[in-house]
Amino acid sequence: MADPQEKVTIPKLFEMKARGEPISMVTAYDCPTARLADQAGIDVVLVGDSVGNNVLGYESTVPVTLEEMLHHTRAVRRGLERALLVGDMPFLSYQVSVEQAIESAGRFLKEAGADAVKLEGGEEVADRVEALDKMGIPVLGHIGLLPQRVSQTGGYRVQGREEAQARRLLHDAKALEEAGAFALILELIPWQLAKLVTESVKIPTIGIGAGPHCDGQVLVFHDVVGLSERRLKLAKRYAELAEIIENALKAYREDVKQKRFPTLENSFSMPEEVVRRLQRPQEREEF
Ligand code: KIV
Repeated sequence: MADPQEKVTIPKLFEMKARGEPISMVTAYDCPTARLADQAGIDVVLVGDSVGNNVLGYESTVPVTLEEMLHHTRAVRRGLERALLVGDMPFLSYQVSVEQAIESAGRFLKEAGADAVKLEGGEEVADRVEALDKMGIPVLGHIGLLPQRVSQTGGYRVQGREEAQARRLLHDAKALEEAGAFALILELIPWQLAKLVTESVKIPTIGIGAGPHCDGQVLVFHDVVGLSERRLKLAKRYAELAEIIENALKAYREDVKQKRFPTLENSFSMPEEVVRRLQRPQEREEF
């Protein structure tokens, strides 16, 4: 098992794959939740562009900007000591050109303290991955369902069920590995295909909705702790925080309405003689 005190690095992820130890990964978007993930011993924290749906109230990840991603990545950086930090490159921060990809990715490392970046796509982004890797910017690839392209794929559907598409994904996995990606996210693909991809590449695969045979698993923080309204087949809820938080807020509201909070226990006092002087009208005028 990985040492829970030791900082997680990319070579350590390879060691984990080699000894068959699954890699744990979760998204985080702010400092306190990143700290909790770190303290829980999570290996990799991803500041996903899913911040758009889960935190910023957007309908999809498409509107998320590079500035928003850098802002959240900086906050997460401040909460981490051990986990590897990956910043997600948002839509149109790497598609325009290789130069644009280097500039955007460089900002994640230089301005936000990320250890690596993630970008979506297969062979068509291999030139970006190769250029970033050559510049010393580690890249996590992402194939299968690509949330930045949902309007093209017609929604959040399982990818790679048909043979031609499955072959394409196997090819993309190889292309990204050859380009220098240090690991691959496999999102929403049949478990048999995820197993084949995992066996056909040397780099770790990290699945979300891709079955149990990947080298690691990633979930969205809000789905794990029960803060999202959606209940996805691909996820598992380990707590019902939305219910706990709502009950806490209702109890607080009721205490305020019933004048049960604050009590003097929650209040601050001043010396009695000052209070007495303040209560005498002539002395109050002096103030
Ligand atoms: O943005 C995100 O949260 C992701 C994960 C689902 C892999 O890309």
